[in-house]
Amino acid sequence: MKVDVLLGLQWGDEGKGKVVDVLTPGYDLITRFQGGPNAGHTLEFEGSKFVLRSIPSGIFQGGKVNIIGNGVVLDPALFKAEIDALEVSGHPLTERLKISKKAHLILPTHRLLDAAYESAKGSGKIGTTGKGIGPTYTDKISRNGLRVGDILHNFEEKYKLATERHKAILKQYNFEYDLAELEKAWFEGLECIKRFELIDSEHYVNNAIKSGKKVLAEGAQGTMLDIDFGSYPFVTSSNTICAGACTGLGVAPRSIGEVYGIFKAYCTRVGSGPFPTELFDETGDLMRKIGNEFGSVTGRPRRCGWVDLVALRYAVMINGVTKLIMMKSDVMDEFETIKACVAYKIDGKETEEFPFDLNDGAEPVLVELPGWKTDMTKMQSEDEFPEEFNAYLSFLEEELGVPIKIVSVGPDRAQTIIREED
Ligand code: GDP
Ligand code: IMO
Ligand code: MG
Repeated sequence: MKVDVLLGLQWGDEGKGKVVDVLTPGYDLITRFQGGPNAGHTLEFEGSKFVLRSIPSGIFQGGKVNIIGNGVVLDPALFKAEIDALEVSGHPLTERLKISKKAHLILPTHRLLDAAYESAKGSGKIGTTGKGIGPTYTDKISRNGLRVGDILHNFEEKYKLATERHKAILKQYNFEYDLAELEKAWFEGLECIKRFELIDSEHYVNNAIKSGKKVLAEGAQGTMLDIDFGSYPFVTSSNTICAGACTGLGVAPRSIGEVYGIFKAYCTRVGSGPFPTELFDETGDLMRKIGNEFGSVTGRPRRCGWVDLVALRYAVMINGVTKLIMMKSDVMDEFETIKACVAYKIDGKETEEFPFDLNDGAEPVLVELPGWKTDMTKMQSEDEFPEEFNAYLSFLEEELGVPIKIVSVGPDRAQTIIREED
């Protein structure tokens, strides 16, 4: 069978965790292929709420194997905290979770470096999650990284070499820190990692494909945060796009099946960087309030704005999206009208193409559609959709050239409507 990929098409937090959980019954393996604890994937079901950082969102359902793939960066301390929280709630994990030996380790000093680089950037800072993501991927690419498999042999020596190098850089930045506390939690985390099966996940996943198993790859972040195609430099440090699933799991491009592209009925962003459709008025405040747009982990308020079809078309193209998923439709329930950005005006000229540099200033060209003014949260089937909502779906499908197959009308697993095949 193939590997289906589910990806965020905006600036992250589209609702990937919720939908992966909904789709899990149709898969045997659920995998993460990039990013790390910068992610916060929220799942709600049966009155419980969980936020996952590094663990795939298939973890709550029995009979599935969840894999942290080679493209992920893993912080042992945060991993242990995540495991502890899930085990307290009674979920058996050791059988369900396996970790690639090739996944890179986020060291305590990577987190310190992240903080040092951000503070040195001053007003130009990225607004990172502070989890050491950039410095860890930097070490991976510059061939200085430590991998999960390294913890099995002579680890102390390798760790010392890496941290000494990091300490020298921190000195250059005059960055003050206290490493002891961080290291204590980190080494406890290493012991926690050792409780799980550490595997060559590329073999595991390819064998699964060969034997007819179905694999779902769960993206983290979103296309607009991709290191190559996002709003550089205000991006994360990995390839969040579909191609990232090939390198982050070791599967061939021809093994990719469906590509699910997920987006909100509007748009949000956390951290710094350009956001053409951002609203600074009470409409934006209302979206934040109704949509509870505050970071799943950090609690940072998310910036809110209208859906951006220039950016979405670009994301559909880069990822080869075959099916769209629209989230948080219910957040728009109270709006009289809904706007959508169909083009940008740059230097007085209109363009529908995503530009080289959004930082040069792109003014959104907006169209207005009637709102549906209906409570969508209890709907069970698309037959109940109001006319204006159907018109919004058709408008988006026309603009993006891909069908919207799933519509989410609330945070709970049950508030999900799968649309009929034509
Ligand atoms: P992810 O990072 O893509 O998994 O998304 P997050 O979990 O960071 O953010 C999505 C937020 O929206 C979470 O708080 C979800 O519980 C919530 N959510 C997901 N789908 C819906 C929906 O359809 N309606 C509403 N109101 N909330 C939703
Ligand atoms: P999920 O998977 C939203 C943003 C940060 C910052 C930039 C770089 O939950 O959608 P990093 O710590 O990665 O170096 O930060 O990327 N960012 C996210 N924004 N959702 C995420 O993940 C994010 N992960 C990183 O806010 O702007
Ligand atoms: Mg999130």
